[in-house]
Amino acid sequence: MPHQNDFRADVEWARTQDDGDPLRGFRNEFLIPPHAGGEQTYLVGNSLGLQPRGVRQALLDELDDWARLGVEGHLHGRHPWLPYHAEVRDRLAELVGAEPIEVVAMNSLTVNLHLLLVSFYRPTPERHAILIERNAFPSDRDLVASQIRFHGYDPAEALIELDADEPGGTLSMEAIERAIAEHGKRIALVLLPGVQYLTGQAFDLATITKLAHAQGCRVGFDCAHAAGNIDLRLHDSDCDFAAWCSYKYLNSGPGAVAGAFVHARHARETLPRFEGWWGRNESTRFEMRPEFDSTPGADGWQLSNPPILALAPLRVSLDVFHRADMFRLREKSRRLTGYLEWLIESQLHDTLEILTPVEPARRGAQLSVRVRAGRDAGKSLFDHLVARGVLGDWREPDVMRIAPAPLYNTFSDCLRYAETVRAWREHDRTTA
Ligand SMILES: Cc1ncc(COP(=O)(O)O)c(C=O)c1O
Repeated sequence: MPHQNDFRADVEWARTQDDGDPLRGFRNEFLIPPHAGGEQTYLVGNSLGLQPRGVRQALLDELDDWARLGVEGHLHGRHPWLPYHAEVRDRLAELVGAEPIEVVAMNSLTVNLHLLLVSFYRPTPERHAILIERNAFPSDRDLVASQIRFHGYDPAEALIELDADEPGGTLSMEAIERAIAEHGKRIALVLLPGVQYLTGQAFDLATITKLAHAQGCRVGFDCAHAAGNIDLRLHDSDCDFAAWCSYKYLNSGPGAVAGAFVHARHARETLPRFEGWWGRNESTRFEMRPEFDSTPGADGWQLSNPPILALAPLRVSLDVFHRADMFRLREKSRRLTGYLEWLIESQLHDTLEILTPVEPARRGAQLSVRVRAGRDAGKSLFDHLVARGVLGDWREPDVMRIAPAPLYNTFSDCLRYAETVRAWREHDRTTA
């Protein structure tokens, strides 16, 4: 692939890139929503990923097996339901850079984080603070504040919120390092994102973990915007736990079954946890004994038997990722997002300000932009784009997020975004 300097803002160039893209065939595996007789320019896989074509048949197969086999589907289905979560385990591990014993697909994201905090947030009078970022996703703030209260402490004192210290609202490693050094002895848990939802900033998980562990803190990451987006190496990062949802870059459908990671060093520890029979050792689970005999690894955090109709899309989606290969996807993603950035900086600099870090290692697919003319102009641009089938998303008060997903987005999509913004700017200027 040519170097970034070869970027050009014309349709033919973009089409040539798309034609030469070794991953181009994957777009056809997704259902692109229609618009005005054509297709949407769907740049919002950071919010809800598109439906893989294979999902419909996978769901129909499960419905047929249920109809055909009834309860026997647990053992004799095409994908037997009893060990169904194990069918997705290896590919999930591959996707997030983990060992199979470290991952499990279960529940939803916030539920998983709560379950993991039961084990990894063990406050004491001397050490009960939680470090998060000030711009944390509201659900993450709710999660930690309620955990702090649940343990009898006061979030006003025990919740440390890190302020952004860089121009786009992003956080420098120095700021994180300072906060951990300053408060480390009273921090029980550091909970940060893999990729920040609003700014698109990707964090250095390994360095954060090292700093926090050196102070005796536990470390977990909310990887909602990282899983399927950046090439995570959760095991090597050495963090204690992580969780993510599967409806964004993982394309597993609205409210899809989420994921959880527990580092292998905790696989055989008897950590306090909320228990349910699916966390029991598989070899004794059906002996119906009174005592809880936990299964090793992340599986031990499961409570209930897996929801097959909800897991089927994840199984299909992980198969797509396996074939595409996360490292190849990341390579394309860097270039696609680099092209979008170049288009904005070279054509639209007077209109849009990019908030996301410029360094490819500090971001994933998403660029977050702010309209220089202010919030109302930003909302007007957003509405203009949506009306023309160019989908990003809007986050109050004034941020538009655009995320070319390398599985199905193209260089032409990025160009169409830039051209539609340019048309708005011309229109706005002539009507102002
Ligand atoms: C960073 C982050 N954390 C948490 C959540 C909440 O996820 P859920 O509703 O699946 O628990 C979201 C949802 O978009 C998110 O983006």
